[in-house]
Amino acid sequence: METRNIIRLDVTESTNSAALEVGQLGAAAGTVVVAETQTGGRGRLNRSWLSLPGMGLYFTIILRPRLVPEQLPKVTLAAGLGVCKAVETEYDVLPKIKWPNDLLLGGSKFAGILSETGSMQNESTGQAPLVVVGVGINLFPPAGGFPAELEEFATTLSQHVYTGISAEILLEACVLSIEKELQHLVTGDFQTILKEWKQRDASKDKNLTWVTPKGEKVTGVSLGPDADGILRIRDQAGAIHTVISGDIKLVGNIPG
Ligand code: BTN
Repeated sequence: METRNIIRLDVTESTNSAALEVGQLGAAAGTVVVAETQTGGRGRLNRSWLSLPGMGLYFTIILRPRLVPEQLPKVTLAAGLGVCKAVETEYDVLPKIKWPNDLLLGGSKFAGILSETGSMQNESTGQAPLVVVGVGINLFPPAGGFPAELEEFATTLSQHVYTGISAEILLEACVLSIEKELQHLVTGDFQTILKEWKQRDASKDKNLTWVTPKGEKVTGVSLGPDADGILRIRDQAGAIHTVISGDIKLVGNIPG
């Protein structure tokens, strides 16, 4: 990999936590934390992320994008697109993206992205916020298979590609690709990201259910993300809902 600070850990609780820690201590943008295994790998909505040794790629990149806080959700879409394009280029497969950032192959999830922000204490000084983007990619099935609660919905890259898989090469490709998409974002060109994201949208025109943060269930058709990257759903009565967070399920498909 080109000159870059890469912190390699055998075991850590979560590369996102480690990245937030070193980020708060001043680590430069572009610093990457990668671990063989995580004891407390986490996903969106307080889910855990299975991170066994030899099974996947688990890394977090530290970013300091000059963006206002309202724009930070766009970082997630940009990063998801970046990982998707890196996988496409390296492995000749065409993953889909389920909003906001689940990567699917054959309709099952093989990768996820979790963006988190550090404290915004420097906001008043105009310093760029600390954002960490964590990426988990299932490369190989766990020995004995996925746990029962995941096996219906999860897949691995190895189940869809027929060449060798190198975690190291994929790491470099993903990091460069995420940074490239982020560059579009900070220069104000979110529309290019959105256009390419929509070409890979797994949910467009599909029926889905959305469980709102208040626990209400909305069923409808996905209209895809709007110009700000916020998902819109048209419910059965024709009302349009905007989904800022919460859980989306493609009807008859994966949770999370
Ligand atoms: C999701 O699908 O909900 C997001 C999963 C993100 C998992 C990755 S693995 C590396 C990084 N460290 C974590 O604790 N989570 C992310």
